[in-house]
Amino acid sequence: MATPASARTKIACYIKREKMVKICCIGAGYVGGPTMAVIALKCPSIEVVVVDISIARIAAWNSEQLPIYEPGLEDVVKQCRGRNLFFSTEVEKHISEADIIFVSVNTPTKTQGLGAGKAANLTYWESAARMIADVSKSDKIVVEKSTVPVKTAEAIEKILNHNSNGINFQILSNPEFLAEGTAIQDLFKPDRVLIGGRETPEGQKAIKALRDIYATWVPEDRIIATNLWSAELSKLAANAILAQRISSINAMSALCEATGADVTEVAYAVSKDSRIGPKFLNASVGFGGSCFQKDILNLVYICECNGLPEVANYWKQVIKINDYQKTRFVNRVVASMFNTVSGKKIAILGFAFKKDTGDTRETPAIDVCKGLLGDKANISIYDPQVTEEQIQRDLSMNKFDWDHPIHLQPMSPTAVKEVTVTWDAYQATNGAHGICILTEWDEFKALDYQKIYDNMQKPAFIYDGRNIMDVEKLRKIGFIVYSIGKPLDAWLKDMPAVA
Ligand code: UDX
Ligand code: ADP
Repeated sequence: MATPASARTKIACYIKREKMVKICCIGAGYVGGPTMAVIALKCPSIEVVVVDISIARIAAWNSEQLPIYEPGLEDVVKQCRGRNLFFSTEVEKHISEADIIFVSVNTPTKTQGLGAGKAANLTYWESAARMIADVSKSDKIVVEKSTVPVKTAEAIEKILNHNSNGINFQILSNPEFLAEGTAIQDLFKPDRVLIGGRETPEGQKAIKALRDIYATWVPEDRIIATNLWSAELSKLAANAILAQRISSINAMSALCEATGADVTEVAYAVSKDSRIGPKFLNASVGFGGSCFQKDILNLVYICECNGLPEVANYWKQVIKINDYQKTRFVNRVVASMFNTVSGKKIAILGFAFKKDTGDTRETPAIDVCKGLLGDKANISIYDPQVTEEQIQRDLSMNKFDWDHPIHLQPMSPTAVKEVTVTWDAYQATNGAHGICILTEWDEFKALDYQKIYDNMQKPAFIYDGRNIMDVEKLRKIGFIVYSIGKPLDAWLKDMPAVA
């Protein structure tokens, strides 16, 4: 679909030149890559260049093997790459040529100094802003795409305007709400597009220029314009409230196990209240991903800095329940195996933080594996999209170190020798005492569990951290099964599992 002529004229009008609109996106990650690919697909008359300081990442975007696994992404990239979508390491050149610059760089949690363990480290954002100020020779719209703390736009505005040489920069906040695994569908049909900007005439013009791009394929009533701070805070609020729903149902799952209620039945009954609704009520071993924990920590820090300790504590609890859920899971495993997994082989099916992605950032599998390793288990891992190198890196990295450009991350210490990684579920489970299902990959439901059972030590245990298995069928085969928040197997009833 082409950009409507009216939209093109309006965008061109803002930038006062009759030429092809150029977009540059700084950061070719999980957000920048798919988002820009979809803009390029939907707006063939706009040139989109995604730049990154990582040579390897750009090379991968230009190859047959994209750097991230996302259903439908390859197809979109293939349609536009080389036409109006480009991936490049020539950061300065493309920034200087662009009319609109999206910034989608890492915003790690600080590990040192003021706000360590909570506040966002804006180093990469600041260096991107300084680069924009240094190389720009014409007016630009700068769009915040990565999730940032409230008031970041103001700080960025200051950096740009103090170094501007008379160039006009308009800052917009346009947080991305896509979820991994469904990114392309989310981008094609977003629930909403949020654009925050200054309430000045120039700010409003910039909002309109960006709105006109999205209006090419997003219905107008789904494009919301707000002030800058509302847009920034809305992203943190949306993620905190989504995570809160998961922690709420996970808290209920512990109570279900204690009382004999079934969390799936409880969630279903609750979800039928149209004020609550059915989504994000699946009890699990815990939520993961690059956003939820980080964004809540950010929110907590902002509350504390604004003298709101009660509000900070309220949100902290969402993370505490998530940690509790992971510990509770490990305790169930260890307690049911006669209180020790020392020297026992435990198979881990699924390492990614959810299905349909190879992303392992903050995956609950890291804490579960570390818990089992702490009890001296030997673990054997299979995930259809995660490499051995990634798993070893995740298991030996310090908390929060994952959120830096890959070539700046600390070197991985030596591999954890009690961990093996295979590309085959049957090999991973062969000779194991127990199986932990930590990601809800569809293929795990279709495995031959009779064959798996026959090749395991007895008694053979399955711990379903995603509630995807047909428990009755597994029990018939002979497995002792633990599912989150479900009536307990007789075997587990007498085992203490307090986290
Ligand atoms: C999230 C937000 O959904 C998205 O809008 C935002 O832009 C980025 O953060 P993402 O982290 O990609 O997206 O995945 P999401 O689908 O939200 O899942 C997050 C975690 O919660 C996963 O580990 C998932 O397995 C878990 N989850 C999700 C549950 O445990 N139960 C549920 O009911 C839903
Ligand atoms: P997200 O999930 O938010 O997309 P990623 O970590 O996947 O985050 O992507 C961020 C990307 O930004 C990384 O590929 C990193 O190399 C890149 N990056 C960080 N700082 C800069 C910079 N100053 N210039 C260009 N690219 C950068």
